[in-house]
Amino acid sequence: MTVFNDRTSALSLLLTRRSAKARDLAGPGPSEAELRQILTVAARVPDHGKLAPWRFVIIPQEQRDAFGESLVASLKAEKPEASEVEVEAQRQFARQAPTMIAVLSRVKQDIPIPAWEQELSAGAACQNMLLAAHALGYHANWLTTWPAYSEKVVALLGGEPGDRIAGFIFIGTGTRPDEERPRPNLDAITTLWSPRG
Ligand SMILES: Cc1cc2nc3c(=O)[nH]c(=O)nc-3n(C[C@H](O)[C@H](O)[C@H](O)COP(=O)(O)O)c2cc1C
Repeated sequence: MTVFNDRTSALSLLLTRRSAKARDLAGPGPSEAELRQILTVAARVPDHGKLAPWRFVIIPQEQRDAFGESLVASLKAEKPEASEVEVEAQRQFARQAPTMIAVLSRVKQDIPIPAWEQELSAGAACQNMLLAAHALGYHANWLTTWPAYSEKVVALLGGEPGDRIAGFIFIGTGTRPDEERPRPNLDAITTLWSPRG
């Protein structure tokens, strides 16, 4: 068991994580070694059955425009009535932040581990990416929007039929002052169980 001598800073990391807007993220972004650390942390999530029910797809900077055009083609094929604003939004989506990672949820069917648990593990992988990015001093943002719900985009990412996109994680350096948002009132979401009926 690892003992954290610096519990205060471990907790302060967790207590200070907040999202920045992906569109406000500029360089510097994580180095290759840092990105590997972020992915290593992401792959350390609870995983019932040790299935590794997630895949990480890095979309490198030099491929962003190509990825954006592929998103546009997929959108037009799926939704021919898409407006020019929606089309342009795909290009902009793909251009955000120095680092962009798609997280695929890959659920194994017909095994005793429920799909729900495998999907939760993919969410945990996304969250761990955000935390690792924060620990390294970067800002990050977990986004979905239309591309995350398109089977065509799953295929674009090299996913298998049935894979779902848990999200796109954007990482970089914020260009605006951090903004805190009101956090849920713990007393409103926490109860002490007592027997009912
Ligand atoms: C699965 C998932 C998908 C999300 N997709 C979007 C999105 O497409 N657009 C958006 O503005 N926020 C999205 N969010 C919310 C942001 O990632 C972020 O959590 C929110 O802005 C609140 O900031 P916080 O992380 O500091 O609490 C998503 C969150 C989750 C968990």
